[in-house]
Amino acid sequence: TRPLKVALLGCGVVGSEVARIMTTHAADLAARIGAPVELAGVAVRRAGRPRPGVPEHLVTTDATELVKRGDIDVVVEVIGGIEPARGLILSAFEHGASVVSANKALLAQDGAALHAAAVGAGVDLYYEAAVAGAIPLIRPLRESLAGDKVNRVLGIVNGTTNFILDKMDSSGAGYSEALEEATALGYAEADPTADVEGFDAAAKAAILAGIAFHTRVTAAEVYREGITEVTAADIRSAKEMGCVVKLLAICERARDGRSVTARVHPAMIPLSHPLASVREAYNAVFVEAEAAGRLMFYGPGAGGSPTASAVLGDLVAVCRNKIAEATGPGESAYTELPARPMGDV
Ligand code: HSE
Repeated sequence: TRPLKVALLGCGVVGSEVARIMTTHAADLAARIGAPVELAGVAVRRAGRPRPGVPEHLVTTDATELVKRGDIDVVVEVIGGIEPARGLILSAFEHGASVVSANKALLAQDGAALHAAAVGAGVDLYYEAAVAGAIPLIRPLRESLAGDKVNRVLGIVNGTTNFILDKMDSSGAGYSEALEEATALGYAEADPTADVEGFDAAAKAAILAGIAFHTRVTAAEVYREGITEVTAADIRSAKEMGCVVKLLAICERARDGRSVTARVHPAMIPLSHPLASVREAYNAVFVEAEAAGRLMFYGPGAGGSPTASAVLGDLVAVCRNKIAEATGPGESAYTELPARPMGDV
């Protein structure tokens, strides 16, 4: 069988791990997909850096050209941010490539347009890695629970802030001290604003709400409050009341069924609740569905390897679809439930 060609856009913490696993697990991946997958090009911002495991001749600084080459089956986008990622993904679709992306900010802003472009081109857009790292959430919501009715999705979807709050709780540290440690350990992203102000969690909440309720929710429609104002004293008083403070993302259908709300804010969680035991940079999400009841998804929500695991799972899925000359589930937004920042819930 003809090998499937993969273009990797971005070779940072996640991208380099994707390249490494693609190489070391090549035989297993080929067996699972039914054809070999070949890394055909790796687009980076700056050339000349040592990139262990990535053959030098595959490295290019011209992502635009790589995507336009015409022989690429799948584009893996792990650059992040809106542009140039958006333009590159649209170009990939135009050239017949399916896309696997880890880009929560982009999906939360432009998901509808990107899905429409993928459908128009007859290719796939998968993004399991955009929400909660390694934890399968998008696929369960899109596929496993497709016959059920989801009423609520609630949980901890940002590892950095959970690490900071957990640190403050366990050591009595102040916010700045805990943030410094999160940065030193590599949890916080380049600019911690997205994490600590709740933008990252809001983007994830928008993606989850859209898929769970078959509607469209953008990050701008999510009520958002970060953790920068949480003090050591707040954590202490929560403790005195038998609680911990967690940054929660909550997506719900309004009781009248006319709208959905999505919000991100710090909340007091009683120690008896399973979310209270989510430590360090772990994530945990509850999905409440009419027939299934209450499901809990738990695991590492950030970091190179966990995120690469989700990317590779998507890569296998879209490669299988390519071989079957089929596409997986596209956007399932068919309701017009308006998103309300803090509705009647
Ligand atoms: N900065 C994110 C987090 C990374 O801390 O959860 C994963 O999206």
